[in-house]
This record gives sequence, C-alpha cells and structure tokens, in this order.
Amino acid sequence: MAVLGQSRKMKLERRVSVFGADRPGVWGCPIMVLDKLESDPYHDLSALALRWPGLFFWGAFQAMGNLVVIGAQWGDEGKGKIVDILARDVDAVVRYQGGSNAGHTVINERGTFVFHLIPSGILYRGTLCVIGNGVVVDPASLIEELDHLQTQGVKIAKNFVVSQRAHLILPYHKAIDKASEQSKGSRRIGTTGRGIGPSYADKMARIGIRMGDLLNPKAFRAKLEENLVEVNWFAEKLYKMERFEVEKVFQQYMGYADRLKSHIVDTVMVVNKMIDGKKTVLFEGAQGTHLDVDFGTYPFVTSSSSSAGGASTGTGVGPTKIDAVLGIAKAYTTRVGSGPFPTELTDAVGSGLQTRGKEFGSTTGRARRCGWFDGVVMRYATKVNGLTSLAVTKLDVLDGCKELKVCTGYRHQGKLYRDMPSDLQALTECEPVYKTLKGWVGSTSGATTYKQLPVEAKRYLQYVEDISECPIDIISTGSKRSETIVLRNPLKTRSRAR
Ligand code: GDP
Ligand code: IMO
Ligand code: MG
Repeated sequence: MAVLGQSRKMKLERRVSVFGADRPGVWGCPIMVLDKLESDPYHDLSALALRWPGLFFWGAFQAMGNLVVIGAQWGDEGKGKIVDILARDVDAVVRYQGGSNAGHTVINERGTFVFHLIPSGILYRGTLCVIGNGVVVDPASLIEELDHLQTQGVKIAKNFVVSQRAHLILPYHKAIDKASEQSKGSRRIGTTGRGIGPSYADKMARIGIRMGDLLNPKAFRAKLEENLVEVNWFAEKLYKMERFEVEKVFQQYMGYADRLKSHIVDTVMVVNKMIDGKKTVLFEGAQGTHLDVDFGTYPFVTSSSSSAGGASTGTGVGPTKIDAVLGIAKAYTTRVGSGPFPTELTDAVGSGLQTRGKEFGSTTGRARRCGWFDGVVMRYATKVNGLTSLAVTKLDVLDGCKELKVCTGYRHQGKLYRDMPSDLQALTECEPVYKTLKGWVGSTSGATTYKQLPVEAKRYLQYVEDISECPIDIISTGSKRSETIVLRNPLKTRSRAR
C-alpha cells in the first residue's frame, strides 16, 4: 500500500515538474491570443518555461486538440470557471445540451458573470461562441442574458451564433414543467422550472418548434396552432391552467425573432469548417454526468445527454474529431434538487461545506446539498465520458477540516458495489464505505503552484486521482481566474496528428 502511495505521489509530481512546463501559455500560440483580453493564468508554468526555454519550444509544437469539458458529478462543479480559463486558447466554445437551467459562474477583474445559455468563452473577443443544435433555447432568457452582458460591457455581435436546429422553449413548456412538478408532490424531481423537460419531450415526439422556424413566420404559426390544440386541452383539463392564445405567443416570438435573427445560422457547418481548418474547439457541457438522461440517477436527472457523448449529437461534430475530455469535479460533492446522494452529509460538516463553499444555486438560488467526495460517482464518470483528465475545484473549501472522507464503494443488503448501481432503490438505500484521510492545517486558498499546497492536501489529491482512475490536470483553489494550479494543459494533445 505504501509503495502504491509512493508511486502515485511520484506520478502527480512528475506531471508538475515535466508536463507542467509544457504549457507556455500565451507564448505557445502567439497569433491566436493577440486579441484576447486577459492576463496569463498559467503563472507557474510560464515561470518554469522561462527558466527552461527548451520546454517552451516543446510546448509550442504540441498540437492543440478539440476538448469536451463536462461536469463529473451532479452539476455546479465549476465548469464556468475552467471553461473561461481554457477559452483563452481556443477559437470557439460550443454549448451542446441543456438550456437556461444551467448557471455557469465566471469571476475575473471585470466582474462576476453568470451564464445560463451563452457559452463561458464570450469574455474573449476572438472566441466564437456557439449554441449547438442539442440545446433548448428560451429566447426570452437568451435576450435577457444578452442585454445584461451588454450592460456589463461585453460586446456581442458576430462572435455569437445559435443553431437553426436548436429547439425552442415556449411559454407552455415552462408552465407544464412547473405544474407537473407541483402535481408530483413528494416525488417531484426538483427541476429548475425552466421548461427543459417538456421542450425535449416535444423534440423527441417530433412536435418541437426550432430556432430556424422563427425565421419563417408562416411555418412557425402553423406549428404553434397545431401544438396548442393539445397543449390547451391538457392545460385546462389536467393542470387547471389558463389557455395559451396563438396570437399572443406568435407576436411575442416574432419580437424575439427580430432581435435574434442575425445570430441564427447552420452551426453544424460553422463548427465543422473551423475544425477542418485546424481551429481549436471547446465543447462546454452543462449539468453533470449523474444528471444525464441515460447515465444519471434516472428519473432524478435532466432531460439531455450531459455526458461527453452529447457533444457529438448536440453539435454535429463526429466523435473522431474530438481529442480529449476533461471532467470537472469538486473536491467534495454537491447536488441540487431531489434524488439519491449516497455521501450526503446532513450534519454540521455538511452545513460547514455549504457555508464555506457558498453552495447556493447560480440559477435558482436553492441551497445545494453537500457531502464527501465519492469515488464510485467519479469512476463511473471516467468510464462513461472516456475522461482523459480532471480539474478538481474548490479544494480551498476543505481547508480546516480535521479529517476528510472519500467514498470507495457502496454496501447494500450485504453486497458491495464498486461501480454505480443502475438500481435507484439500491442507490437510495446503500451505505457508503469510506477511507479516512488527514485534513490539513495550512491554507490552500488562492494557491497558484502545487508546491504551495500542504502535504496532506497533496495526499488527498493523489487519492482523488487514484480512486477516480483519471489524472488531474488542473486544481482550483478559489473562484477567481488566477486562483488556479495548472499541472498540464488539457487542450494540448499528444496522440492525434492534426
Ligand atoms: P458550474 O455550473 O459548473 O459552472 O458551477 P457554478 O458556477 O454553478 O458553481 C460553482 C461555484 O463555485 C461558483 O460560485 C464559482 O465562482 C465557485 N468556484 C469555482 N471554483 C472555485 C474554487 O476553486 N474555490 C471556491 N471557493 N469557489 C469556486
Ligand atoms: P449547471 O450547468 C445543478 C438539476 C435540477 C433538477 C434536475 C432536473 O449549472 O451545472 P431540469 O430543470 O434540468 O429539468 O432539472 O437537474 N439541474 C442542475 N443541477 N446544476 C445544473 O446546471 C443543473 N441543471 C439542472 O436541480 O434536480
Ligand atoms: Mg451551475
């Protein structure tokens, strides 16, 4: 065991000293970042490259790959922060699923930004931001977000496009989402109420209305009229709601069309052409692996493919064009809404994590449930997403914990599960099996180099890496861009000749 621990330690430290320096930041790709706004977040590595110029040249010749960034747990892992950091070095950031249920926070010198629909790369002038076909778009929410960003000084013009194929969220989707949750009582999912499930349901039932329909008023009206016959029947009979008037919804959506039409394009061609032209594309996942409609804790999930596979179906980019998948995981676990959560802490330790981690939803403001890091959840995420590396966030929130627990398996009716059970009942009733590790006395808050971390924090990270069966590339120690340790740049790929 001691030998294994030692080799793990060496693995992580080797990446810091060798691969860490392969990341010369701005210098590795000088042309592309000329029009980027912000300072270099890769302090550690830049300094190393300066001291050892050979590594700078090696880094400069490494290929940049197309990367999917996903949440490895139940959402809110800090995807926004990490995407914002990586977006500096990419040509496009593409959202591929979900809708305005997402809330991705970016904090930098220019302020605090919470993105719901707009990709977290919008703060860089030279980065194209794309809403792909797999996203469901509430135009009211999109316009509100665009307006708010403009008041924050963010320029949005040709740097933002939305797929013609993305499905619309209509007022009845939001109303049905809320009414259906209310009627479920204690069995409710705890949705965000943004109309996500009903809009995806219409898409699969082949009665959805798409962004492209906004450009064709006649077709839009015909589809709306047809849908409202059924919707109004349910609205009145089942949910005792008011009817939706065709004319009112039509006028409202034609207003949105006027505002958004210049952004609505065939994004499949836009993104594929960029990739063919050797540009670098980052696919930004929303939600998390365990909220995925197939692989999550069904039915307590969202209604889209939030795992890495969704990046292909949600953008029209084939899997052979994707080089790597970065999983974002908190150094502990959180979940918003209902559903099983084996390592949940309902005691003072849990509320301590909630307070220190400011664990309140970015979209709904709801308190997030908190618990220990779960190795079973993580191993599953590594498998179903084909993770190539991890970014571990919010390490600083564990500062001051005397001891830390990591779940290694679940026990249910005498059976030990090492892998995620698909049986919801087993997952709800299981007892987590823990490995206890020593906490640290010093602070990790704001650390920018691995060397700065207390030895116990390094041991914790080594254990996280080992139990997740995936190497750590990035460690986040605070909410700001600069509060980050980059051990290796996940965008730099070694395998694929591009
Ligand atoms: P996302 O949905 O995955 O983008 O995550 P959210 O933005 O919903 O939630 C993550 C929260 O944690 C945000 O408030 C971030 O500003 C904050 N955050 C991200 N990384 C860190 C970190 O390393 N330490 C601390 N203390 N906060 C962080
Ligand atoms: P980001 O991208 C955390 C949860 C809801 C609910 C379930 C279904 O910020 O990580 P929905 O409205 O999607 O039908 O709700 O999914 N949920 C999220 N939880 N972060 C999110 O997004 C979420 N988006 C949806 O709380 O349990
Ligand atoms: Mg969030």
